[in-house]
Order: sequence, then structure tokens, then C-alpha cells
Amino acid sequence: MPLIGSGALVAEAAAKQGAVAAFNIITLEHIEAVVEGAERAKSPVILQVSENAVAFRGGRLLPLARAAVAAAEAASVPVALHLDHVKRDELLRQAADAGFGSVMYDAAHLPYEENLAATRAAADWAHTQGLWIEAELGEVGGKDGKAPLDPHAPGARTEPQEARAFVAESGVDALAVAVGSSHAMTSRTAALDHELIARLRAALTVPLVLHGSSGVPDDELTRAVTGGIAKVNIGTALNIALTGAVRAHLAAHESVVDPRKYLAVGRTAMAETVARMIGVLGAG
Ligand code: G3H
Ligand code: ZN
Repeated sequence: MPLIGSGALVAEAAAKQGAVAAFNIITLEHIEAVVEGAERAKSPVILQVSENAVAFRGGRLLPLARAAVAAAEAASVPVALHLDHVKRDELLRQAADAGFGSVMYDAAHLPYEENLAATRAAADWAHTQGLWIEAELGEVGGKDGKAPLDPHAPGARTEPQEARAFVAESGVDALAVAVGSSHAMTSRTAALDHELIARLRAALTVPLVLHGSSGVPDDELTRAVTGGIAKVNIGTALNIALTGAVRAHLAAHESVVDPRKYLAVGRTAMAETVARMIGVLGAG
């Protein structure tokens, strides 16, 4: 199928009170696993590449982007390509040419006025390129190996009226909200503030995005989607699946040297995670 925009997938999911899953890809195996898992679940999906993943590839966006575009076009379900947690304008400006239909611009670490000014400039530029743009207000913790934020720390939760003004003044198409999740959790123990999600849903007309979803238990995810989250970002869960499967395979087959042997096992484990997580989001 031809690539589709994240905006269309998110709008379609939101109209049905559902959410679209967006998985972070790092390797070719991630790409193949996400597409396979989505096909198994018969569901649309978003492949997303973070600025950190681009840094891992020596700052080069195209090798992973081109593989993702090719996999999306060969998929039997609709697939969108999203550039995630972009901080550098130089990377933002490569998005459209590399095949991305959407971006998440991340200036959430900056004070409010600076976040707003940077996000507004990014949104103005993105819209000239036909890109759908997501931004973040309040900061979802746990980025770049940092510890999760204390729930009472300033900015650890998104304030609804401030979010309303931020969206109106920046012109973004979706908002990532800080509601209790945190990035890179390897245990699924996060408790979401569902009352805050409801207040954000009521205050905003744009779709709400949940980051750091790997650490959120199934029932909390389902409840968040029912409560108005329309895009669910998942990264670490795939890496847990991949690494666990590869580690077990290598431990059981000490003489293996062909990477296809253990990467195949890792890819299958990721595809199972993808299908299962999509099922959780659709179970609201
Ligand atoms: O933007 C990416 C996500 O927020 C992924 O977070 O790795 O904790 O699932 P996660
Ligand atoms: Zn994130």
C-alpha cells in the first residue's frame, strides 16, 4: 500500500475512540517486525524514527527511512512514517524529502515561552511542507537515560488550560501530554492520571499522544485510550522482546555465528509484541 499520513490514521482512530500504535524502529528487523505484527493484527500502524535512532546511524536518516518506506509500500495494512522527538532543525528539514508525513518536535525541556516559540516556528515550517506535527507540553520524563521526573516536579504533568493556549498559539496538530508515563521503563508499573487525561481531552480539540507507553500496564493503556489518547508511542517494549529473545537464543546455542539465526528469533519476538500491543489498544 502507498504510505499514508499519521494525521489520517490518528483521526480515523480517534473517531472510533481508539488509538493508533506508533512503534520506534532502530534496525531493519524492527521495521519488518512492526509491519508483520500490524498485518497479523490487521491494523494500521505508525513506524517512527527518533532523533536518537538517527544519531545511532551516524546522523544519517535516509538508510532507515528508505527501508521503512519500502516496507510500508509492501505492507498489506496502511503504514505511516513519523519522525520522533526531533530537536535539531537540520533534521526536521529533512523529514518530507525522506518520506515522512509527520514529525514530533520536542522542545518540552525548555521553559514555556521558549518551547512555544520554537514549536510555533517548527509548526509553521512543517505546514509549508504538508507535514502533520506533534509537540510536547509538560515533560514526559526518562528521556536520554535520565531518571523519571518526580510527579510533583514542575512540568511533570501537563496543565490543561496552558495546553489549550499552547496548541492555539503554536498551531500544532497533536499534543504529547505528561500524564504519568515515563520513557524507557523496563517494568510495566506506571500509573496514569486518568482524571487529568479527561480534563485534557475536554480542554483540547487536537489528538492526545501518550509517550513512554512501554511502562504502562495493559489495563491502564486500554483505559487511557477509552479516555481520549489517540496515538500510543511504544519503543522499549520492542527492545525488551528483541534483546530477551536474542539473549536466550545465544545462551542455548553457544556455537551460533550466523546473525540470521538469532535476529530471526528476535524479529519474531518483536512481531508478537507488536500484534499483542495493538490488540490491547483495540480492546477498549
Ligand atoms: O516516543 C517514543 C516513545 O515515547 C517510546 O517510549 O520506549 O518508553 O515505550 P518507550
Ligand atoms: Zn517519546
